[in-house]
Amino acid sequence: MSTRPTDSGAVPRPKTTVLTLREKHRLGQPISVLTAYDYPTASAVDAAGVDAILVGDSLAMVVLGHPNTLAVTMDEMLHHARAVARGGRSALLIGDLPFLSYQADTAEAVRNAGHFLQAGMDAVKLEGGRHLAETVGAIVRAGIPVMGHVGLTPQSVNAMGGFRVQGRTAVAARAILDDALALQEAGCFAVVLESVPYRVADHITRRLSIPSIGIGAGAGTSGQVLVIHDLLGLYDKRSPKFAKRYAELGTLQAEAIAAYKREVEDRTFPTRDHAYAIPEDEWQAFVQSPAQRRPSSLKGARR
Ligand code: KIV
Repeated sequence: MSTRPTDSGAVPRPKTTVLTLREKHRLGQPISVLTAYDYPTASAVDAAGVDAILVGDSLAMVVLGHPNTLAVTMDEMLHHARAVARGGRSALLIGDLPFLSYQADTAEAVRNAGHFLQAGMDAVKLEGGRHLAETVGAIVRAGIPVMGHVGLTPQSVNAMGGFRVQGRTAVAARAILDDALALQEAGCFAVVLESVPYRVADHITRRLSIPSIGIGAGAGTSGQVLVIHDLLGLYDKRSPKFAKRYAELGTLQAEAIAAYKREVEDRTFPTRDHAYAIPEDEWQAFVQSPAQRRPSSLKGARR
């Protein structure tokens, strides 16, 4: 990638790859990951220097308004992945395989993972542990980097009885550890640990040689991921305990929209500052110009 200054004078950072993440992990440097679903958000996340952008299937909830992630389709994910790929120039771009795009058939899983790469992603993520090791291996053998996801896996929300913390018993914690180790063995370059007690996450992180990316898993993981709508205060339906709100853009947005409505109604918007002028001579010529006769071909035609 070119490191020549851009039009704005900024020198773009080099493209982040799975090797970049491996090196950061080796050096003990925390890895930052955020979700994005469109061009402007991806551009902002990329410009901030965040290591990786996840086009998460959380799209279903925070953008499309579904109550969980189950409804989003591969086509919808690809549509948003293409937009993110236009904005995320340096970050590692990860496409999240949606429900039913990889569970039923390994060949279909490989094809769908490939569609994400054709849409501009660099890697894919999928949810699940040991039972998906073969699928992960097939995708990795096709040359597609895979990130695993264990603990709370929202695509299994019905089987889990809701969005609940996982791994709170010794047996459940052991199962998450075994799942993470199986994903590593199958070739994953990293694994997301979601909604897992921090001591369990710390222990799993120490047992893994690949980076763990935590969400609701405490500070001891190799990196962190958040849903950007949670961070920006743009999603009010479900606000998990772990989601720190760094801004209240939802409130700002509501105030701005209300101000616009008010100003349209009391005619204080637009002012001359938001309008275009016509040169005086053109204006005079315009208002004094005789009415044009309609071309005969239009006579009788309906408007
Ligand atoms: O879909 C998503 O945003 C995710 C993250 C919460 C890890 O899977």
